[in-house]
Amino acid sequence: MNLVLGVSGSIAAYRAADLARDLMRAGYTVRVCLTDAAQKFVTPVLFETLTGQPCLIDTFDEPETGRMAHIDWARQADVLLIAPASANTINKIANGYADDMLSTIALAFTGPIIFAPAMNPAMYAHETTRESIQKLKGRATTILEPQEGDVVAGEHGPGKLASNMEIVNSVLAIEKRSQILRGKRVLITSGPTQEPIDSIRFLTNRSSGKMGAALARAALLMGAEVTVVSGPVKEPLPIQAQTIHIITAEQMLDQARQNAAKADIIIGAAAVADYRPSAPLKGKIRRSEESLHLDLVANPDVIAELAKVAKKEARVIGFAAEPDSGLETAVQKIHRKGLFAIAVNDISRKEIGFDADQNELMLIKADGSKETSGMQSKLGCALWLLERILA
Ligand code: CTP
Repeated sequence: MNLVLGVSGSIAAYRAADLARDLMRAGYTVRVCLTDAAQKFVTPVLFETLTGQPCLIDTFDEPETGRMAHIDWARQADVLLIAPASANTINKIANGYADDMLSTIALAFTGPIIFAPAMNPAMYAHETTRESIQKLKGRATTILEPQEGDVVAGEHGPGKLASNMEIVNSVLAIEKRSQILRGKRVLITSGPTQEPIDSIRFLTNRSSGKMGAALARAALLMGAEVTVVSGPVKEPLPIQAQTIHIITAEQMLDQARQNAAKADIIIGAAAVADYRPSAPLKGKIRRSEESLHLDLVANPDVIAELAKVAKKEARVIGFAAEPDSGLETAVQKIHRKGLFAIAVNDISRKEIGFDADQNELMLIKADGSKETSGMQSKLGCALWLLERILA
């Protein structure tokens, strides 16, 4: 396993040398990248000698001529660990800056990132740093909270780098997670569908596609091959997923069905329009003083159709956006649609569900068991959901 260890400017940089050794003992090939500020505390020679690998400093360093190291290292790494992570590095990476080698690798890296912050407690408590940490937690990022204790300049508070054992254990846990779905295929329907009324108008709903994108990201982090059949959304999907763009429910069914028989897990996160205009007009419906009646016909139930063609051992999961906390209709959907389980969102709560960044899911399995994720980022909920359906 390959690990890039980013070391940024904190007095705790001296501990990164021991940490590199501990990670090597745990079986990792460790390559170190130092920020400018880190070099005030430690030197590249220290890490090159310890790891037997080149150490990157400048954005244009190229240990192998003709190969851009920031892309190469980002592609080859299984985990990016930033320890110690200074306030500056955390704030930069949370906001997408790429003005040195470490932040450039972080931007090019699509796998899991672990931050082990170490800094003055006031800098850690600053609202900008808190906001950055909140942002990072919503992505594929683990934050190892600093320990409370005596820090430099005679202060006391949370600011000390987590212990090496805690950091190494976190790397091992992330690696273990990345194996859970290795060799498995996950198919996800996501986003809304659009059902044409005429050439310029359509029926749709408020689905943002955020939960589907989070599920795709979570499945990738667990090592799966992921296919997403997505309606029109602004939310970007992970580039490592195969994405099939569709517009209508019928197109969604057609594309998803072609991928269903080989899937090990199928998740219906799409908000499929239940009805479509029976005869969409080519051109434009003109204005008149008369009232207009749209004739709607039922769309196929995509997830129910996929459950019929799925492998016998495949786990088919539905989502149910329910307007209240009653669970009876959700339970009925499990049986009506032939599902293994259903994840229920209570859309009467506006802090979760449609377009929100947070969510809280109630997972009900066909065997009647129920459990809740608690309020988390959508990525956190997605990871929780996948772990629970495999349990
Ligand atoms: N679903 C689907 N195709 C449809 C309708 C729903 O695949 N035409 C899927 C959704 O992706 C979700 C699950 O079925 O995984 C439940 O969706 P929901 O809208 O809650 O249920 P409906 O069957 O539409 O029932 P109702 O509208 O009465 O709540």
